[in-house]
Amino acid sequence: MCGIIGIVSKTEVLEKLIKGLKQLEYRGYDSSGVVTTNSNSFCRRRSSGKLVNLKKQLKEKPISGTIGIGHTRWATHGKPTEKNAHPHLTENVGLVHNGIIENYSELKESLNLKQVKFNSETDTEVITKLVEIELTENGLSPEDAVKVTLKKLKGSFALCFIFRGLENLLIATKRGSPLALGYGKNEMFVGSDASSLSLFTRKICYLEEGDFAIINREKVSILDCNYNEIARKIIQVSVDTGVLSKGSYKHFMQKEIFEQPAVISQVLGYYLNASDDSLTLQKYPSVKKTSRIILIGCGTAYYASLVGKYWIEKISGIPCSVELASEFRYREPIVNFNDLVVVVSQSGETADTLGALRHAKKFCKNICAIVNVEESSIAREANWVFPIKAGPEIGVASTKAFVCQLLVLMFLNMAFAEELNRLNENDKQKLFKGLLELPRIFTDILSKTKNLKKISKKLSAYKSVLFLGRDLLYPIALEGALKLKEISYIHSEGYASGELKHGPIALIDKDMPIIAINPKTDVFEKVNSNLEEVKARKGKLFLFTDNFGKSQSGNLTKAIFELPTCAALLEPIVYSLPMQLLAYFTALDKGTDVDQPRNLAKSVTVE
Ligand code: F6R
Repeated sequence: MCGIIGIVSKTEVLEKLIKGLKQLEYRGYDSSGVVTTNSNSFCRRRSSGKLVNLKKQLKEKPISGTIGIGHTRWATHGKPTEKNAHPHLTENVGLVHNGIIENYSELKESLNLKQVKFNSETDTEVITKLVEIELTENGLSPEDAVKVTLKKLKGSFALCFIFRGLENLLIATKRGSPLALGYGKNEMFVGSDASSLSLFTRKICYLEEGDFAIINREKVSILDCNYNEIARKIIQVSVDTGVLSKGSYKHFMQKEIFEQPAVISQVLGYYLNASDDSLTLQKYPSVKKTSRIILIGCGTAYYASLVGKYWIEKISGIPCSVELASEFRYREPIVNFNDLVVVVSQSGETADTLGALRHAKKFCKNICAIVNVEESSIAREANWVFPIKAGPEIGVASTKAFVCQLLVLMFLNMAFAEELNRLNENDKQKLFKGLLELPRIFTDILSKTKNLKKISKKLSAYKSVLFLGRDLLYPIALEGALKLKEISYIHSEGYASGELKHGPIALIDKDMPIIAINPKTDVFEKVNSNLEEVKARKGKLFLFTDNFGKSQSGNLTKAIFELPTCAALLEPIVYSLPMQLLAYFTALDKGTDVDQPRNLAKSVTVE
């Protein structure tokens, strides 16, 4: 994964490098580093841990220079130590890298034979060594040395180089991983995304596969994969960096949970016309000939897709399958020309999802993307884009994006159902009413968190937790378990409650807490019986239900969190909120790093 930045300017670049890296921390935060060069030498600082450690070091030992590159890392090859942190240097070459060099051990072995010494355990370092050899032993120019080296690399990467003593040259290239250029006044920027560059300029250009950019402060030449000069479109980006602050909240995750009433209203306003109960969605693929819908995502986006499948089959009656993006392209899936593929991704940069999209494109023509980042690679490569309009999501654990993904899946589904005449006026109006009530329901839940805090306090003492749900609420049990494990580090698993008796019931004893989601639905009684089975085995039951469920649950448990009643089809949206809060409060009790949990990154740009 990792975030990379490069700046060539007439003025000092250090402060800008650090600001850009701050924006890129969502891509990894286990170590970071920067390097500048002046007329004769490199000046580098690196640090393990969060960016704040690097900043501390730079305060004590500042560096200067009008050209520099920086990196924030999510370790793939080699531990997250200072030694493995980027930039990597040889005598003449400085490099930051996002991605993976798949044939690095082979390359390293051949360099070992030449007695080349390595200072790190990374795959990246082989690139610097290869370029150095081309420069010094073979006498090539920096451009040619990089070009020759690129021929030897397998894998996916975005690279940005500087060269000792060359104060007006950056070389940037990409294969697989995203890279953007920012055009300033007498300064140029390279970055893994637009948000890191939009701090300095709104004029951005995305490099395409195989592009090779030679960057001076006054001029950029972009060469395509055949090294022919090419003009890439420069766009004005609208990333509002002002909103990337926590405001009065302690954590971004807390802010993102609590701003959901406003965010939902915004999404409803974007996709619905409340005055005449109509969808504003004008352009979407016709499903008249669609034989199957395939939803694809990872993690939280996969769970949103699972809800989508239940909805699509219930409402539109179109057969639907859901795929884990990381499995999809390798398991030789059967995709037909008349299938409709919908990839779901908050970041729009997830390597597995992007790979799955590219694979699906080989077989069918209709590829839709449900994304938050509208300028992302997935959005640019899909045929149809449906933005979720959640605004920047910074907390690593996805919250508001999940809810907005669900909303957009519902809107698309309603459009399909209308086209197939499967949504009658009455059901449509009920759905509209239910959707428009969501901001109020979310506000209501957010104002009554006392009981949830008590449940979280109890949960934080356990080592393992089971989440149960059924039908539309089964994916919410999965999502609840994911949220809890990723930020509190408590082992948690989600199950369809009917599956309990097929194995997991063996885990239940007085030390096993169970989060059960069971409001009034068609399967209420069935789930209740499953919960009786839990109680009979002394499991500690925490019930999330509505007023009806509370009244029917008898002496099943006293630990009940009651939620407002909502349209049955929209329960997955409503019940995802207490799951988010539960994870958040439990993590607070455990004192973990809520926004940047260990080992994770917001955007997973490696396979
Ligand atoms: C969990 C979480 C991850 C992401 C997954 C896909 O809270 O955020 O599971 O959902 O990495 O990311 P996107 O949606 O950016 O493709």
